[in-house]
Amino acid sequence: MASVILRNVLKRYDETEVLRDVNLDIADGEFVVFVGPSGCGKTTLMRMIAGLEDISGGDLTIDGARMNDVPPAKRGIAMVFQSYALYPHMTLYDNMAFGLKLAGAKKPEIDAAVKSAAKILHIDHLLDRKPKQLSGGQRQRVAIGRAITRKPKVFLFDEPLSNLDAALRVKMRLEFARLHDELKTTMIYVTHDQVEAMTLADKIVVLSAGNVEQVGTPNQLYHAPANRFVAGFIGSPKMNFFDGVIQQVASDGIVVRYETGELQKVAVEPRGARVGDKVTVGIRPEHLHMLAGEWGVSARAMTVESLGDAAYLYAETPVAPDGLIARIPPLEKHERGESMKLGATPDHCHLFDADGHAFERRFAHEMAA
Ligand SMILES: Nc1ncnc2c1ncn2[C@@H]1O[C@H](COP(=O)(O)OP(=O)(O)O)[C@@H](O)[C@H]1O
Ligand SMILES: [Mg+2]
Repeated sequence: MASVILRNVLKRYDETEVLRDVNLDIADGEFVVFVGPSGCGKTTLMRMIAGLEDISGGDLTIDGARMNDVPPAKRGIAMVFQSYALYPHMTLYDNMAFGLKLAGAKKPEIDAAVKSAAKILHIDHLLDRKPKQLSGGQRQRVAIGRAITRKPKVFLFDEPLSNLDAALRVKMRLEFARLHDELKTTMIYVTHDQVEAMTLADKIVVLSAGNVEQVGTPNQLYHAPANRFVAGFIGSPKMNFFDGVIQQVASDGIVVRYETGELQKVAVEPRGARVGDKVTVGIRPEHLHMLAGEWGVSARAMTVESLGDAAYLYAETPVAPDGLIARIPPLEKHERGESMKLGATPDHCHLFDADGHAFERRFAHEMAA
C-alpha cells in the first residue's frame, strides 16, 4: 500500500506539451478515477506513474520515495489495460504465475499467490483453461489476477471495462468495488464512463487538454463544479447552459437577465459580481421545470425521448445555443412546437463568469456533504 504524489508534473513530446502542472495527492488506499475527453492525457499520466513514459518535469513520489528515475519493475505498480494481453497458449494458472516466475519466486509462493488471486476473483475453477475458452469478463479477471499476484503497492487500470458489453460492465464495476474493499490497495482507474467514475471513486480527477480541471469527491464535482468544463463533463445528460448578464446583485443571490429579457435568480455568493457582467447560468436536466410567471426562459418543445423510467424533453431557446434538455415524468407528453417556460429554483442553479469560473453556490456544501 502506498500514497502517490505528483508535484508540477509535466509531459512533453518534442515541442508539444501534453500534460502541464499536474499536482495530485493520492492517499494510501484511495480509489482515484481519472476522467476527461479522449486525448486529454489520461493514459499518458498513468504511463508516467507506471514508469512506461519519462516524466519531462516535476516529481513523482510513491510511498515517500522519488520515482522519476526508478525503472517500472521497481516501482511496486501493476497496470491493467483495456486489451488484456494474455498469453493464448498458456493456461490461466500459467498466465497468472508468469510474472512471479520471471521475478524468480519459488513454486509454493507462486502457487499460493495464484490461488489466492483466483479465489478473490472467483476464477479458481477455471485455472486449467486457456484464454480462448473464457468469456470477455473472465479474461478481464485473469488480467486483474495477474496484477494481484504481484502484490503491488498501487494498481493502475486504464479503461479496463471498455471492451465488455453493458451488462458485464455493470457486473465488473461491482467487482472492482469489492476488490478495492477487500485488498484496500491504492487504485488509479481511468474511464470515460460517468457511472463508473461516480460510483467507484473516492476522488475523481477531471482532465481537459493536459490540465487538471478539478479534483474532488463525486458529490463535490456534481454539486460544486469549479468551472464550466467540469459542470458540463460530469453528469449525463449534461448540464444546460444559458447565457445572460447580471441584472441585480443581492445578498441572497444574483438575478440574471437573458437576451430575451427573461430572468433567472441564482443562489450563489455574489463575490466580485457586478451588474452588467456576462455570465452563464447552469441548470441540470433534473432541475429544469416548467414555470408559470416571470422566471425562466421561453422554449419550444422539439422531441421527447422516453427511457421507460424517465423521459427527456429536448427544446429550443434563443438563450441556449445548443438547445436544452429537461427530465420530465415518464408519461408526460409534449407536442413538437409547444411553447413553454423553463427554469429552476435558485438553489438548483449554477453560475459561471465570463472565464467559466463558478461562483460559489450558497447550498453546495450541504449537497456535496
Ligand atoms: N508517443 C506519443 N508521441 C506524441 N504524442 C503523443 C504520444 N502519446 C500520446 N500523445 C499525445 O498526448 C495526448 C494525450 O494522449 P493520451 O494520454 O493517450 O490521452 P487519453 O488517454 O486521455 O485519451 C494526445 O494528444 C496524444 O496525441
Ligand atoms: Mg487513453
